[in-house]
Amino acid sequence: MNRGACLANVETSKSQKVKTTKANVFWYFTVSISTFRRFDVSTFRGLVVTAGAILVTPVLNPECGGALGQQPEATGGQLGKPPPELNPNGWTSSAVCGECHQAIHAVWRQSLHANSWSNGVFQAGFRRSNETYGEEKSRLCLSCHAPTVRHGGDYAVKEAITKEGITCDFCHSIHAVELADPADPVRFALGKTKYGPLRHAQSPAHQIVHSDLFKRSEFCATCHDYKNANGVPVLGTFSEWKSSSYAERGKQCQDCHMPLVAGRTVSLDVKTESPGVVNLHNISGSHDIERVRKAVTLEVAGYEWVSDKVWVFLKVANEGSGHCFPTGLPMHRAVLEVKLLKAGEMIGQREIPFEIVMMDESGRTLRREHEVFISAAKVRSDTRLKPNEVRSIEIPFRDIKASRLVVTASLYYEYSTEALVTDEKGDRIEPVEMKFLIASREHSMKPVGQ
Ligand code: HEC
Ligand code: HEC
Ligand code: HEC
Ligand code: HEC
Ligand code: HEC
Repeated sequence: MNRGACLANVETSKSQKVKTTKANVFWYFTVSISTFRRFDVSTFRGLVVTAGAILVTPVLNPECGGALGQQPEATGGQLGKPPPELNPNGWTSSAVCGECHQAIHAVWRQSLHANSWSNGVFQAGFRRSNETYGEEKSRLCLSCHAPTVRHGGDYAVKEAITKEGITCDFCHSIHAVELADPADPVRFALGKTKYGPLRHAQSPAHQIVHSDLFKRSEFCATCHDYKNANGVPVLGTFSEWKSSSYAERGKQCQDCHMPLVAGRTVSLDVKTESPGVVNLHNISGSHDIERVRKAVTLEVAGYEWVSDKVWVFLKVANEGSGHCFPTGLPMHRAVLEVKLLKAGEMIGQREIPFEIVMMDESGRTLRREHEVFISAAKVRSDTRLKPNEVRSIEIPFRDIKASRLVVTASLYYEYSTEALVTDEKGDRIEPVEMKFLIASREHSMKPVGQ
């Protein structure tokens, strides 16, 4: 990849930022749309699409190390200027950290963590939660999506820092986690000491305490594992990982989600020597389609055709996801669509879902985020792929009268949700359907002896 390509992409995302002030809530979609465009399997309903899209992938690309370094002009540690001050008694804005940690800040800004409060999908869920359960119960949402409320208690979300979502200072003020205390698992210390993975680092702006916790999955577990008041595991990513071969082999969340890429931990004018690598702070998951495509595979393993019955054998494998596939929100699901074609015409069809389905006390299936977090009382079914699982699927088709057939199998990732849309006409909640292709296979078939 040449330097020009990286530079062009950085410029794209910059010009987009200007355009998207009003449409900040669209962040989530603009990224998704750019991905969809590339793969051309989108279904978008009821959504006003802003022009263009923020390109995340190039910034993510380790080969774009140069781009990571091409950050806006430094202001922080410039000669003659005093270093920016951290708040000694409360949270400090990520903008202050970003004056020195420019490369990390630029990447973090585009992450779902940085947009965990502002993105339109969360905004819709949060609004629904307030309408359905009231403000008191909906405080729960903020403890993960705007976690600085855990100190200061800005549950009305009036302060700018709260809107920064999962901000630098929240993560880097954590000195311990107590998973045995699920109601309040995070231990943090505010002020001028920052905790992190580096050894022997020194900073003009803050004290540094080295902490191994930052390299372990337990750090992420405080938000990525959640049992609600009814004891239902609404989010089980950490638990799924914990009982997998990845945990056994010591492969942590960070090893897959925060790989080392070329870049500077702080800008050149703050510190001249640098390890030359940083941990990628975009922390992407299933929104990075390429990641999903590498992790999940699909194969037509064969077929059996006896008189008028055909059995199709398929294999779907979770090869590279360190937890179930899909994981996290129960609304994230995958579907395998199998079609039987005779001379191009469909004569049979099946859908096999990979999902965890939750219901409330009365047995009603829950389809929305706010409902699962608060009302889930039971898991109805769980057909997701376990870590490393290879699932063999056998599909029978009957009454087949043909001499030649083609079977197609397509695996899709789906997310059906809502988003808060803000424009000249005001605020409203619109349905959003997302669907993208993970893998697709085709196989021709004929009866025995033909
Ligand atoms: C005046 C510049 C400056 C500012 C402002 C600043 N830092 Fe730093 N920080 C540094 C320097 C220099 C290092 C050492 C980097 C190195 O050695 O590679 C550092 C290191 C760190 C580390 C690594 C610690 C470790 O042991 O892994 C973390 C985490 C960190 N900073 C977080 C923050 C956060 C969060 C903020 C904002 C609240 C912030 N920094 C603001 C200059 C700054
Ligand atoms: C072996 C590599 C690996 C490890 C270890 C790993 N992940 Fe993942 N993760 C993936 C891949 C690949 C995907 C995309 C496929 C998917 O959604 O499962 C993913 C997806 C995700 C998603 C997005 C889910 C969604 O549907 O949007 C979250 C959240 C996540 N991981 C969190 C974690 C956490 C937290 C840990 C540690 C407890 C962890 N991961 C450990 C590889 C890994
Ligand atoms: C979701 C929590 C989280 C957020 C938000 C976050 N970090 Fe980090 N950061 C980590 C973890 C975890 C590591 C260590 C990863 C590893 O070593 O595998 C890390 C590492 C670092 C390091 C050490 C150098 C490196 O690349 O490993 C610095 C400096 C740092 N972060 C600064 C920041 C700044 C500045 C921000 C905001 C712009 C920020 N972080 C946001 C979790 C976070
Ligand atoms: C303070 C809570 C918190 C912590 C700590 C945290 N996360 Fe998250 N994470 C979230 C929330 C909330 C979201 C969803 C944001 C949104 O989309 O609104 C998220 C999103 C993600 C996603 C993106 C999923 C996707 O669909 O693409 C991944 C991957 C992820 N986190 C991994 C991690 C890893 C790895 C760590 C530990 C280094 C970590 N998180 C620490 C709360 C947290
Ligand atoms: C224990 C932490 C936690 C709590 C509490 C929590 N969330 Fe989340 N939320 C997450 C994480 C982590 C994700 C990332 C998705 C995943 O893992 O698949 C997420 C994702 C979401 C998303 C999808 C956002 C996107 O960008 O795709 C919505 C909507 C959402 N949460 C709404 C809510 C609502 C509404 C509440 C309160 C009723 C709530 N959440 C409470 C951690 C939490």
